[in-house]
Amino acid sequence: MSQYAAQDIGQAVIDRMADAPNPRFKEVMTALIQHLHAFAQEVQLTPDEWMAGIQFLTDVAKMCDEKRQEFILLSDTLGLSMLVVAIQQARGAARYQPQPGESAPTEATVLGPFYWEGAPVLPAGANIAEGAPGEPAWYHGRVTDLGGKPVANAALDVWSGDAEGFYDLQKGPDAPMQLRARFHTDADGRYSFWSIKPTYYPVPDDGPVGRMLRGMGRHPNRPGHMHTMLHAKGHQPLITHLFDADSPYIDSDAVFGVRDSLIVKFGQHAPGTAPDGRVLAKTWYDCAYDFRLVPAA
Ligand code: BEZ
Ligand code: FE
Repeated sequence: MSQYAAQDIGQAVIDRMADAPNPRFKEVMTALIQHLHAFAQEVQLTPDEWMAGIQFLTDVAKMCDEKRQEFILLSDTLGLSMLVVAIQQARGAARYQPQPGESAPTEATVLGPFYWEGAPVLPAGANIAEGAPGEPAWYHGRVTDLGGKPVANAALDVWSGDAEGFYDLQKGPDAPMQLRARFHTDADGRYSFWSIKPTYYPVPDDGPVGRMLRGMGRHPNRPGHMHTMLHAKGHQPLITHLFDADSPYIDSDAVFGVRDSLIVKFGQHAPGTAPDGRVLAKTWYDCAYDFRLVPAA
């Protein structure tokens, strides 16, 4: 057949993939074509709208370089990144048969664009906020398996923006690492470090994704959070955040990354001596959180 009715074009494209060598690629492309065609039909897409979409994707591509990944930001702000994270975590959980009495694992969330490999490995209790604006906060807790047994020597990467909402990576090409480090848990699975109480900040909104958000009538902000990434022998890796319960935008994260189980009420403390002996001349906070890791498949 050489001519197709509008409603049959999608199926015709799918039929041409009969010899696709990779079955998973074929499955993904089949669903993508079905949904794309259904979408165009549903909104009765006009040529101008289609061209505007092409121009938008072109602008997104032009905004990408080694430091800026506008396509991931697009995926983040459309909620797709978080959906993929949730699907992957469910896949990991499905591979593991929980034993009686075991707790649910710590939930995962998006990686975000500001992870920087090679952060310094620091001893427990170190302050990663030296010289950075912000209110001091002590982060402490344990890393365990689902049964509550300590995970010793787990690598815990942490990173956040400063109190003005900027990550080191956003401060110019020569800016040094700041507010990031790697810690290791002790024999009891304990970790602790000092940083700042994180503040809310906007995702980069000076490009096409920012234009899209404004067009959608949406704000670009993420609630205050501390990024964490855990790697431990015999366990599945975990990328997640700790969110400040009192932060603005906790109910409307621009990238839909908030999970109730990751929201922490920071304790507020008068100036004085913290439990680890550090003396603080100003109000300080603490964030207590235990991470639970899933065994490796
Ligand atoms: C962040 O957490 O820093 C972030 C995450 C997704 C998109 C932009 C920023
Ligand atoms: Fe962040």
